Amino acid sequence: MDRSDREAATTTLEQPNAADSSLVSPVIQSTPSPKQPLRRLGINLNHWYVVAQGKELGTKPLAVTLWHQPIVLYRDRTGSPVAVEDRCPHRQVKLSEGTVEGDNIACAYHGWQFAPDGSCVHVPYLEPQQKLPTCALRHYPVKEQDGFIWLFPGEAAQADSVAPLGVPEWAHLNFIGSVTTIDVQSHYSFLIENLMDMYHGHLHGGAQVWANPVLAELTADDSHVHAHYDAQSYYRIDKIWSASQLVIPALRQLHPEPLDVYYYYPHWRSTLGEDFVIYCLFCPVSETHTRAYLLHFTSLGRFPNLHKSPIAVRRFFKRAFNNSASFVLRRLVREDVLMLEQEQQAFEQHPTYRGPELNRTLTAVQQLIRRQAGVGK
Ligand code: FES
Ligand SMILES: [Fe+2]
Repeated sequence: MDRSDREAATTTLEQPNAADSSLVSPVIQSTPSPKQPLRRLGINLNHWYVVAQGKELGTKPLAVTLWHQPIVLYRDRTGSPVAVEDRCPHRQVKLSEGTVEGDNIACAYHGWQFAPDGSCVHVPYLEPQQKLPTCALRHYPVKEQDGFIWLFPGEAAQADSVAPLGVPEWAHLNFIGSVTTIDVQSHYSFLIENLMDMYHGHLHGGAQVWANPVLAELTADDSHVHAHYDAQSYYRIDKIWSASQLVIPALRQLHPEPLDVYYYYPHWRSTLGEDFVIYCLFCPVSETHTRAYLLHFTSLGRFPNLHKSPIAVRRFFKRAFNNSASFVLRRLVREDVLMLEQEQQAFEQHPTYRGPELNRTLTAVQQLIRRQAGVGK
């Protein structure tokens, strides 16, 4: 394709000059026990997670939570994202209530400022004989890629050895993108199992563009699960009015189409034939709360003349039809969230219950979650 502890803060600032007031939070690592239920497992922190869309991050600080860690995001003077823990070392109020001052973030309460590396660089009322406190916030590796803010919550030294999941369709002029958010009160495992289980189309009725899936092949290793389903679909965008089949069932004609779903831990991708790509980018918040972004892309690959058009025309098309499928995505998410939250509530009431499962894909997904959480099979 062409690419145009958290409470480590045991030292308090009892004296403004306290030189020992270091306040760097260590990495919270999951410490699961082998008997821990799947629905209580932590995440492997040594991956890149999505915490925001690039467009959500403007001139104001943005508060996010990634696996129990309150984090504040902002942009420095060059527009690059910065991520530090969302807790002022002075009185532990949220820095996200503050303001961005140049490259620094200023606390709303007393105006102390912190640099992108988390060091305290300014106290407005520092007396001449006083030194700046040596407290420091935890700062995180963070980058903007493919329209999203990606954050590495694990050991910072490992960040460069792991790549964020690529979303090449985001900027590609041949793809029309739509995005919606998922905010569900459930463990992330319920969401990924839902996404990998192509047998739940019953829930979505006509809003789902594929039908009659049959699991034909399943592969898995320590970092991914791939399920290939033979399926049928009415989805084909090859005429200017093709999208009307999405809303007018009488126009739909099923044809065979391969349906592939991938769990690239911790994110998900699926393709339906050559024209349809969908991603789910995860931001697990806690054992009972998961946020994610659902992205859908339609390929314009069946319009060869469009490819010969000037770049400006192609850009216009991409922008004009941007988010045109969001209403379908929102419906699918609404229907799924209802089921996921009921699963979570039922788990809380009957944590040892294990229902029968007939889709082998989900067993592979659960094994991968356990391996990544560090508890083996
Ligand atoms: S609480 Fe943040 S500067 Fe005082
Ligand atoms: Fe669904």
